[in-house]
Amino acid sequence: MTTDDLAAAVAALRRDELVAFPTETVYGLGARASSPAALRRLYAVKGRPVDHPVIVHVSSADRLDSVAVIEHEVAYRLAAAFWPGSLTLVVARRIDAVDALATGGRPTVGVRVPAHELALELLAQVDDGIAAPSANRFGRVSPTTAAAVRADLGDDVAVVLDGGPCGVGIESTIVDCTRGDDIRVLRLGAVTVDALAEVVGRMPTIVDNGSVAAPGTLPSHYAPRTPVALVGVDAIDPWHDVEAAVTAGARIGVLALATVAVAVTGVTVRWSPESIDDYARDLYSTFRAADTLGLDRLFVVAPLGGGLAAAVRDRVERAAAR
Ligand code: TXA
Ligand code: MG
Repeated sequence: MTTDDLAAAVAALRRDELVAFPTETVYGLGARASSPAALRRLYAVKGRPVDHPVIVHVSSADRLDSVAVIEHEVAYRLAAAFWPGSLTLVVARRIDAVDALATGGRPTVGVRVPAHELALELLAQVDDGIAAPSANRFGRVSPTTAAAVRADLGDDVAVVLDGGPCGVGIESTIVDCTRGDDIRVLRLGAVTVDALAEVVGRMPTIVDNGSVAAPGTLPSHYAPRTPVALVGVDAIDPWHDVEAAVTAGARIGVLALATVAVAVTGVTVRWSPESIDDYARDLYSTFRAADTLGLDRLFVVAPLGGGLAAAVRDRVERAAAR
């Protein structure tokens, strides 16, 4: 990554071309949020239905008012507490700054300041909101490396800024702030429900009607091509299905925390993250690896507990539900 790359990225965005950039969660595919031409290109390349809103990224909390009209001060409190960071705020859209194409025609907009040096530099230089969904084709797993972006999008993206592997690894927490302090969590992420409650002073409502509240949260959005099956560690014989698959000659992978003992021999690959942070960070690269290896099935033991573990569980349950 050089300053030339950054200059090329800024120039491309100004020409209404697309630029992929790293964030701490996943790589984003960016277009200028005020440009209908750039947004049309974004939706075409992503292959995403135009009624699915995308997140608008800005360079600092001070810029929230440049893309949104804040009606409830809770949004400012959350921005001050968590930005830069893995939290997207859904607030009223400023119509002259964010084209309706970015929000699927909704009166609201999702806004976030990513916690990544390179992303912040890009945002500061462009001096406009950057609309950016995850930098994968519609229905594929979010990319957490520049190589994964290239593999998925090829030459359809003008510039891919390489900021190394993403540190968090799963998409941001999304919070609807349009009802004041009665905030609603539309998607779980690294900013936890408890942390939100502490800032707001009351427990948020967790909404799990994905397709209505946050259209991008459909199950298929988090699934690899390899079929994913959950291992219920509370079941009487949790490893029964894994054993049966191995006996039938299937090439299978198992993903489970290192502390989980896998009571089956003949597993082709065992992924064993040491912590919940590692589990989240490596989840999508594990999904991609399962596809690359051409496994017949990926068995997953979802992590227990709240916080980031709950967000990881949400992703693997959706992957298995496909
Ligand atoms: O971590 C992230 O959030 C990453 C990085 C690139 O910032 N972005 C990301 O974008 O995951 P995407 O497009 O893959 O997911 C955006 C989610 C979708 O579920 C969408 O429905 C929701 O945000 N969203 C965006 N604007 C919204 C709005 N106005 N109301 C409700 N949901 C919204
Ligand atoms: Mg996505």
